Amino acid sequence: MLSKMLYAKLSSIFVLLLMCCVPQAVVTAKRHRGSKWWLIHRGVVNAGAPSNNVLVNAKGDPVFLDARQQPFNRRQRRLVRKNAGSLVAIAKGTQRAINECKHQFKERRWNCPTYDGDHGKATFGNILRKGCRETAFIYAITSAGVGHTIARACSEGSIQTCTCDYSKRGPSGRDWEWGGCSGNVQFGYKFSRRFVDAAEKGKDIRYKMNLHNNNAGRLHVNTEMRQECKCHGMSGSCTVKTCWMRLPSFREVGTLLKDRFDGASRVTIGNRGNSNRAPRGKLKFEMETYNKNHKPPTRRDLVYIDNSPDFCAVDPTSGSEGTLGRQCNATSIGVDGCDLMCCGRGYRSEEREVVERCSCTFHWCCQVKCEICRSKKMVHTCL
Ligand SMILES: *[C@@H]1O[C@H](CO)[C@@H](O)[C@H](O)[C@H]1NC(C)=O
Repeated sequence: MLSKMLYAKLSSIFVLLLMCCVPQAVVTAKRHRGSKWWLIHRGVVNAGAPSNNVLVNAKGDPVFLDARQQPFNRRQRRLVRKNAGSLVAIAKGTQRAINECKHQFKERRWNCPTYDGDHGKATFGNILRKGCRETAFIYAITSAGVGHTIARACSEGSIQTCTCDYSKRGPSGRDWEWGGCSGNVQFGYKFSRRFVDAAEKGKDIRYKMNLHNNNAGRLHVNTEMRQECKCHGMSGSCTVKTCWMRLPSFREVGTLLKDRFDGASRVTIGNRGNSNRAPRGKLKFEMETYNKNHKPPTRRDLVYIDNSPDFCAVDPTSGSEGTLGRQCNATSIGVDGCDLMCCGRGYRSEEREVVERCSCTFHWCCQVKCEICRSKKMVHTCL
């Protein structure tokens, strides 16, 4: 009798244990705060510090005024130490990614707000708790930012372990040859993969999502390389041309990733391979489209697992700032239009005086003189 009761009790404890310990692949209970290394964009402030404006200690690791803010983990620090000059590039790349995110989303309800705080989520806020489209974009653009800036830094000679890509050399076509400095995207891509992906750990689908989007982001730098040529010969007759591969501008990368954001695929844990014993360290599941009729995402597509909040009202827990007070366009029917931007709450219109420089003229040499013009413009803001 007693043993039976004990057995019942034990088995209920066992069930409880089972319930709380289902693998993370099934339940994503972990709090996601984003990547701590994003904090490095704040490092580029201290002019006069030894290494191009970023505070570093004797080992070359980034130093923050608040010592608890170590933005890099051990693998990342080792990588940065081995590639002298990369720290500044990472910091610049992260700042460029943040600026690009704000630019691409300036006319949307979620306009890529960033924050000052001391956790990983401090950079982009609580939106990172969810694996939604916005989160996918953040991972992709920051990973692309590192790859792009590192590749450029190689060409500028500011990283000791890389140069321009000189693998393309010599005559190639009938009337042109490779020459000059080709952007070293191979190095940028590999560096970004090692540095950015080193921040991700876990076994859940969110981890897979982050890695996929990191890779999708930096791939766009590689695929947008373009050939550029210069003519040589008598008075520009172009008898000989030398060509090299030019990096895309970061604006081009941002615009393409914004298109990927709009066409992102919702994914979920697939069944394929679930029952198989996976090799150690490998994840046992594959990502699968949420809607089985949809095409599977390519390597360059962004993927997400959660639907986005509507961003209409202020909700600090989901990283929504709401759209109260946002400017909108009264004649647009798009996402920047007042109907969508203000979520149907309506908007206030007022005439504001705008002060601009105008009728600028160029005076030899070298001055531009402008007049100050005042005009009235209608400004619409969400209620
Ligand atoms: C508002 O939207 C219309 C239609 O899309 C566009 O032509 C106009 O330039 C926009 N105005 C502003 C101030 O952006």
